[in-house]
Amino acid sequence: MNGNEHQIATSVLVIGTGGAGLRAAIELAERGVDVLAVGKRPKADAHTALAAGGINAALATMDPQDSWQQHAADTLLESYLLADPETVRIVTRNAARGIADLERYGMPFAREADGRISQRFFGAHTYRRTAFAGDYTGLEIQRTLMNRAAQLDIPVLDTVYVTRILVRDNVVFGAYGFDVVDGKRYVIHADAVILAAGGHTRIWRRTSSRRDENTGDSFRLAVLAGGRIRDAELVQFHPSGLIAPENAAGTLVSEAARGEGGVLRNALGERFMARYDPERMELSTRDRVALAEYTEIKEGRGTPGGGVWLDVSHLPRETIMRRIPRVYQTLLELQMLDITREPIEIAPTAHYSMGGVWVRPEDHGTGVDGLYAIGEAASGLHGANRLGGNSLIELLVYGRIVGEAAARYSRELGAQRRSPSATADARGEIDELLAADGPENVRALQRGLRNTMTEHAGVVRDETGLLAGLSELDDLEERMKDVGVHPDLAGFQDLAHAFDLKTAALAARATLEAALERRETRGCHNRADYPELDDALRVNLVWSGPGRIEREGLPPIPEDLAALMREVSTVGKLVE
Ligand code: FUM
Repeated sequence: MNGNEHQIATSVLVIGTGGAGLRAAIELAERGVDVLAVGKRPKADAHTALAAGGINAALATMDPQDSWQQHAADTLLESYLLADPETVRIVTRNAARGIADLERYGMPFAREADGRISQRFFGAHTYRRTAFAGDYTGLEIQRTLMNRAAQLDIPVLDTVYVTRILVRDNVVFGAYGFDVVDGKRYVIHADAVILAAGGHTRIWRRTSSRRDENTGDSFRLAVLAGGRIRDAELVQFHPSGLIAPENAAGTLVSEAARGEGGVLRNALGERFMARYDPERMELSTRDRVALAEYTEIKEGRGTPGGGVWLDVSHLPRETIMRRIPRVYQTLLELQMLDITREPIEIAPTAHYSMGGVWVRPEDHGTGVDGLYAIGEAASGLHGANRLGGNSLIELLVYGRIVGEAAARYSRELGAQRRSPSATADARGEIDELLAADGPENVRALQRGLRNTMTEHAGVVRDETGLLAGLSELDDLEERMKDVGVHPDLAGFQDLAHAFDLKTAALAARATLEAALERRETRGCHNRADYPELDDALRVNLVWSGPGRIEREGLPPIPEDLAALMREVSTVGKLVE
């Protein structure tokens, strides 16, 4: 036991203070359940705040023919049949309620003149069903949820890095972590734990996540607790990430820019989407637009910076200022570029983990008693291609459901047994890192890992590259044994980076191994050596540790939803 260690107890612990974590915490507090939310980043600046263009629900405010069934059908179709049908049904059916919850908490949605919530087109949706607040939708959602959490007096500690979930005999009893500012340790005892710590897209070099976000924490925490990871290889590369400046490479340019009428051109000035998806053009799915861009660049029709052009300069200035103000501001700030006059140079950016912790559709339980996962940490809704705007609605819908489930679990829990040895292991792991004084630099190893993933597990993959990636990862893991960790007066960021590196290594291994195993091309996962979709691989790949992958079949798609799944031409979707 460390003199600097604090013990706290709560009924439900939420790990992650972004939208998913806050929505679950609100549900618990509204039900009168004691809840504590912890996170490693400032809650006002959680990754949710970066989500831009909108949140989906078939409200039919713009297109009266829309229905939750059509939303479900679009989601299943564009997942390349890898989404779990029950998860899709739950999200789409409850989406309007999720929007109503946000309205109840005071969310300032964009509205039409008569007061209806406005809805815009997003790629591959049959109807306009993306509600928004300019292109600051995620920021407004995060603010709205923070306000509601403050009204409910929910305690939020947003400088706590959780390093282990504490488990005894497959039953959760809390978590262990440290404060990134002063190094204070925390043993947090809880009946139930909700994991809402995001995905793993920061393990690529060009990504829409910032340095310490989405480093794969949920993967490592879940696996060490006895959970499993589903479809780690299914990572969405968003078509519009900035190329420059280098220190902001990958920053998102919202799909709203294309939704509002932006066009894509190559260096020859051609609207190249005509070659890849002539019907839907720039409003094709993200996997197809990203692959099209990759192909244009690879075949020598890319821009000087190695990208393509996204042009909104033909749109009325007023549309740009009102509908995509963040894109305008971001480009001015980062490149001194006026998008009302000039095109934006973009390329695919690692954007969203569509795979994640394995969860049950009904309550997002992980199979470890008392442990739940939600938001980008979880999996099941997106399959091999996520429709833009579906992740924000998922966190609203499952935030409520998981909050309810954890409240019930806590209420019905009899005696809880703890494990001093599990706590001692967690304590020992931090002690060991703090004593590490080797020559290897954590930040340099992080950079090496991102290079490996970028080189070998990007938009297009093949067996040779994936095996090379695994071999490079073996070397990196060897070098990780000799790191030096040196917290200083400024805080314990160096320790946080050392844990980020461990989580990134585990997430990278899960991704490379699953990508190797998925010998087909499906959605975002393009295998140059297996360019066809393989019907036998309509399975989820479930990873439970190095070398351990199981195939899990999916239930059939209900007939009423299948009937609404339109034929979409695949002309032009070629890999290499
Ligand atoms: O492009 C965007 O605005 C991103 C939205 C999303 O990923 O859902």
